[in-house]
Amino acid sequence: MMKKRREARLEKEMWPGNSHKLTPFGRWLGVLILLLGLSGCADAAVTPSALDPQGPAAAQIANLWWWMLSLGTLTYLLVMGVLLVALGGRSSPISENQRRWLVGSGMFFTAVILLVVFGFTLNTLNALNLDKASTPLVIEVEGVQWWWRVRYPDQQIETANEIHIPVDTPVQLKLTSGDVIHSFWVPELHGKKDLIPGKTNSWWLEAEEAGEYWGLCAEFCGTQHAKMLFVVIAEPEAEFNEWLTQQQQPAQTPPSELARFGQQLFMEKSCSECHAVKGTEAVGDLGPDLTHFASRMTLGSAIAPNDRAQLAAWILNPHTIKPGNLMPATELTENELEALLAYMESLE
Ligand code: CUA
Repeated sequence: MMKKRREARLEKEMWPGNSHKLTPFGRWLGVLILLLGLSGCADAAVTPSALDPQGPAAAQIANLWWWMLSLGTLTYLLVMGVLLVALGGRSSPISENQRRWLVGSGMFFTAVILLVVFGFTLNTLNALNLDKASTPLVIEVEGVQWWWRVRYPDQQIETANEIHIPVDTPVQLKLTSGDVIHSFWVPELHGKKDLIPGKTNSWWLEAEEAGEYWGLCAEFCGTQHAKMLFVVIAEPEAEFNEWLTQQQQPAQTPPSELARFGQQLFMEKSCSECHAVKGTEAVGDLGPDLTHFASRMTLGSAIAPNDRAQLAAWILNPHTIKPGNLMPATELTENELEALLAYMESLE
């Protein structure tokens, strides 16, 4: 008795919120309300929904999803209805004929529903594999732990974690991996496609509206899998061409004394061993190409906005933001950091 009371008191002290006991139903209701509430916490910009399609492929997929949900719901209600009738019905045995009819119709309806779903699925698959391979614009995407290398081979552009496409135009993607299996997914534009080492998978993207569409890695690929994001920017043809031209330029020369000092540090502090800046002697290719780094929206594979504070934190110790990534921390004096930031910010 004493022990029980002591335990109860202990529990009260450790979890004071539990002092008035909830019934199991109350507890489940609480969990449900909590989950519903939490789902509202997510930032809509970085949790794109496949049910909010912004391109023809995603629309096909969402359509199939709604059809399957409707058929599934209908079937469930039907089965539950029949079950209720059976439970409330008479207890006398049914005749052999009735039994046969029940079993037969059960099999028949199941087959019909599965065939209908199969038909819808084939139709969707067909639409997704639409021959877009003839589109002139090709973009190569290589997934590596834990970021995305993006190349426009015909335009000789290399960037990272940001894919620009012209609006309302299908573009061809060539997907591959530099290490383990990743999966390329822009939920609002298309379904998932794996990036497999030693293999090139073809895929395509098309956005109907200009805008930013968040993408993510959809295949577990190591500790920072969840922080392997990217952004697709769909823009009008003229703006897209302007972007292409700008990205084709070599990096501009540092515009100030401070930025010049920053460039010198970039070459000396081992940044240049892993990163390339076209037009300079930095030709490393282990990390993202930084020729036009300042023109990008994000850093660290779209996990932080590309601003001065985040960049400073990232340069000093990227592991506070993304533990386990390959970039080492860099020791810099305050003055050196200012200079390196000035140089990075000049790489537009
Ligand atoms: Cu790459 Cu998960």
